[in-house]
Formats: sequence, C-alpha cells, structure tokens
Amino acid sequence: MKIQGPTNKLIGDLQVMGDKSISHRAIIHASLSSQESLLKNVLRAGVTKSMIDCLRILGVNIIENNCDLIVKGGNWIKPNKPLDCGNSATTMRLLMGALAAQNFSAELTGTPSLQHRPMKRIAEPLRQMGATISQNKAPLVITGGKLRGIVHHSEVASAQVKASLLLAAMQAKGTTTICQPGPSRDHSERMLSEIGINLQYDDKKVTLVPNENQINPTNITIPGDISSASFLLAAAITIPNSHITLRKIGINTTRTGILDAMKKMGADIDVFNHAKSGGEPIADISARYSTLKGIMLEGNIVTRMIDEFPIFTILSTQAENTTIVRDAAELRLKESDRISSLIEELNKMGTKFEEYHDGYKLTGPQKLKGAKLSSHGDHRIAMSLAIAGMLAKGNTVISESDIADESYPNFQKTFNMLGAQIV
Ligand code: S3P
Repeated sequence: MKIQGPTNKLIGDLQVMGDKSISHRAIIHASLSSQESLLKNVLRAGVTKSMIDCLRILGVNIIENNCDLIVKGGNWIKPNKPLDCGNSATTMRLLMGALAAQNFSAELTGTPSLQHRPMKRIAEPLRQMGATISQNKAPLVITGGKLRGIVHHSEVASAQVKASLLLAAMQAKGTTTICQPGPSRDHSERMLSEIGINLQYDDKKVTLVPNENQINPTNITIPGDISSASFLLAAAITIPNSHITLRKIGINTTRTGILDAMKKMGADIDVFNHAKSGGEPIADISARYSTLKGIMLEGNIVTRMIDEFPIFTILSTQAENTTIVRDAAELRLKESDRISSLIEELNKMGTKFEEYHDGYKLTGPQKLKGAKLSSHGDHRIAMSLAIAGMLAKGNTVISESDIADESYPNFQKTFNMLGAQIV
C-alpha cells in the first residue's frame, strides 16, 4: 500500500464484515454437527479460508454463497495431507481441540510466523484429557481418542485456550472446568449455550458437562467485527472533519475495551440502535474527529482490547500528554511482536517511545512524517500503519501490506471510498 497523506477527511455510513472470532467458532461448531447449519455474514478472508480449507479436508461439506455458508459435518475423516492453517492461530488452536476427540492422527502446519506461536498452552491440557500431541509448536501431529474431563488452570486469560478446550470438553466423558486469571472473549460460551450444550460460566471460570446427544446445528447471523471497525473509528477520530457511522457491530463487553479506551481519551463516539444477533449484542457506532488526551491502560482492559493495541497505539501518538500501556506482554506473542514492531515502524515516522517488557510510554501529540514501513507480516500492523500514513505528511509505503487480506480484504477499497488516497 502507498498512502498519500495527510487525508483530508473520511465521511461514510457502512457495515464491516462478520466478526473473525465468531466466524471461526460458528464454522467449527457447525462442522461437528451432522445436521445442516446456516451461517450468515461469515467473515470471508484469509484466516477463515484457512479454517474452511482444513475442514473440507476433514470431510466437512461447506457450500459457499458469498458471506453465507451451509455447513454439514459430523463424521470427520482422517486427512490425507497436512492441514495447513496458514497464518491463523485461531484455526490451529480450535482444530486441535476438536481433533483431540477424533479417532485418527492429523498433522497441523502453517506459515513460518504461525510456527513460532505458542501451542503448549493448548497441547498440555489436551494431553491431560487423553490426546497425544507430538510437540508444542507447529508443525505438530495430534492423535485423538477417548477424552476425559479435567480441571484446568490456564496461566493466561486466552479465549483461544478456552474455545479449544471447550471443543474437546463437549466430546469428552465427564465434566471439564477451565479457570483463567481474568475475563476473555466469551463467544464460544454464548454459541455453545445457544445450541444446547450444558455449560455455566463467569468471568474467570467455565464448566461444561457433556451429554451423549448428537451436536445440534449452529444457525447464526454473525455481527460486524469490532476489531475491523476500530480502524475506521480510529481514523474518524484522528482525521479532521471526519464522521463515520458503522452498522450492526458486535459490542460484546469482552471485546469493547477499545471503545472504553477511546471514550476515556475524550473521543466523540456514540453507540446506539442496540439489538441482538446470534446470541451477541450488536449496535450502530458513530465517531467524529475529536481532541484526544493520553490515558493509562493496564489490567483486565488489556484482554478486552488485545487485538486493538496496534490501532490504539496510533491513536495514542495523536493524544495530548502521556499514554502508558502495561500488562500487555501477550502482544509479543501475536502475528508479530506487536510492541517492538509498532515502535520500530512508528519511530521511522518520527515518534519517540519508551519501551517496557509489557507495554510502552509516550508523550503526544507527535507529528508523523511519511516513511517506508514494513508490516512485519502482521495484518493488524499493516492496517494500523496505513492509518498512521493517513495522518502523516507525505507518502507512506508499507511493504507486505497484502497481509491485511487475512482479516479485512476490503480495507483499501473501503478507505478510498470514504476519502483516503491509498494506491
Ligand atoms: C481470539 C482470541 C485472541 C485474539 C485472536 C482471536 C479468539 O487470542 O488475539 O485474534 O478468537 O479467541 P488469545 O486467546 O490468544 O489471546
């Protein structure tokens, strides 16, 4: 991407694609049912393509009609080749949970970036449940079988750990309890409750009691992705004269840390037209250009906006006074080390940060100048730097920016339609 900055203003009223986390869960839950599921407004992007491709190799029948999918699964078959999860850790971790209960071996692999991501946090509890897993990093071979329920205390508040273990737990014998140090996104809990799985949960604990019945189909209309929406909201807040309205966005409180952070910074954000979709709260959100002040972020809010730190960091460069982020070491284990890749690239645009092992400190507002940047092969870094480019004077060129297609294939087109100049 080459961004000609600064952008004058962004104006528009639009929808974003379906939520990435909810899409992944809907596809894999539906794939475990032998009855037909209808999934509407599914995210069609690199990461969900990885999930769909793997499930087809496992014998699941998936019919695509744009963003709607008809899925019929149930009896998974031994794959005749390695399952390539691409760049998607969610695909790999959720598949591991579901495969742990299958009576065959499967090899899971992915891009070099995915091969660096931590899988031990999933592999260890799945081994305790009865699965055999060759190693704690991809490529790995998982041999499933009869599982038993366990009590697992996870060191990290990770929704992927929870989602993966719940997929195993619903196919196990006996109760499984998963405890986490703090709240994380609860989409699996909501979706599984909707299809009649017996589970109880609160912020720190989920207990699932499996039953012998067949797994029911999943029929859901997936809310718009708050993570994709955040790029548009952040751009509207920081580009003078902008006003953007986004429709039918998921506002599950386990995901809305970014809205809380933006409001705390003084952003003019309005959340209205509250409704429900697929067991999840949704609303329309509008944002206008605002003067921002720096804030301190630490504790539970970090998990509630874990994917939004790259774009939050761009916002923080435009805020008056000091912004401090702590308790965010998990950012170093994402598609790239998001603390060091952000600081490295933004420094090329003229910023000054103080880096901590679990966050950073900066004082703003800081003027950005156009520069040659790298996405570090990370979709959210690519898109966040594109917004920085819209705020900067001069041209910004981002290498390996096609990676944005992993979660937001229409990013460039959407922003150009609203008034940006990206070529
Ligand atoms: C996700 C959970 C988060 C998030 C990822 C999607 C999910 O990961 O960063 O993009 O769908 O459960 P962790 O659970 O590893 O924090």
